[in-house]
Amino acid sequence: MPELSNAIEIRDLEVRYGSGHKAVRILHGISMDVPTGRTLGIVGESGSGKSTLAKTLVGVLRPSSGTVTIGGVGVTAARGAQRSQLRRAVQMIPQDPFSSLDPRCTIGQALAEAIDPRGANVKKHQERIVQWLETVKMPADSMYRYPHEFSGGQRQRVAIARGLILSPAVVIADEITSALDVSVQAEILALISRLRLELGLTMVFISHNLAVVREVSDEVAVLYQGEVVEHRPTAELFDNPEHEYTRKLLSAVPGVPGFSIEPETSPLAAS
Ligand SMILES: Nc1ncnc2c1ncn2[C@@H]1O[C@H](COP(=O)(O)OP(=O)(O)OP(=O)(O)O)[C@@H](O)[C@H]1O
Ligand SMILES: [Mg+2]
Repeated sequence: MPELSNAIEIRDLEVRYGSGHKAVRILHGISMDVPTGRTLGIVGESGSGKSTLAKTLVGVLRPSSGTVTIGGVGVTAARGAQRSQLRRAVQMIPQDPFSSLDPRCTIGQALAEAIDPRGANVKKHQERIVQWLETVKMPADSMYRYPHEFSGGQRQRVAIARGLILSPAVVIADEITSALDVSVQAEILALISRLRLELGLTMVFISHNLAVVREVSDEVAVLYQGEVVEHRPTAELFDNPEHEYTRKLLSAVPGVPGFSIEPETSPLAAS
């Protein structure tokens, strides 16, 4: 993917569910850029359209109007080679690692399949799989074990490894800590903060939890009833919220206990 100043460009996005007179408009009037290597946080209450936006960014949902451009490639218009290029370059890390990991596949198989969906071969990709398990601080023997043998936090580490193993340029993280205990949330946040800096990822980090978004985002957009009502650098937004809805959200924010962006050393940093 070429180095562009904006990894993601969203223009006049409108997304509806359903068609004809039954169509319901979920998102509208959304225009935003995410500069390469930066993280845009998206906050908003349940039902505000955050996951709808995530799915539109990865091309799972087609917008009813407007465009999404990632790495200079139009997400809806992409066909053939460009489409497969986008599929590798843009990865979604899901909310619930239990339903996203196939219970019949070992962790090694899950990672091998992410590398090569058609010819998933753990032996062939073993070195890379082991390196990634180490990066996300999973024991090396977890590659022979199954998802149910791990805790929620460990499964989410595997889901993160799986999302990053193809070295995507853009990562869409939709509520990746909300299924976890508070103490484990902090661990996963520290992990994703470290990786996004080390790997220079461009990220869209979605959460209904403002405190969580604050820790990892350079900028934050506030989604309210399908519209972005405020979009500013993180510190500015938290210090001096302009929109009434943002103030309301902020007044209900506890911290993230135990979170700190300690730059842990990782095997990737050395290579
Ligand atoms: N497949 C669908 N068909 C019809 N309506 C849908 C569909 N998926 C979501 N919606 C509706 O779209 C709106 C936005 O949903 P979305 O999942 O994007 O919200 P969200 O901000 O991610 O919420 P949460 O914080 O609960 O995850 C909701 O009103 C929801 O009911
Ligand atoms: Mg959601």
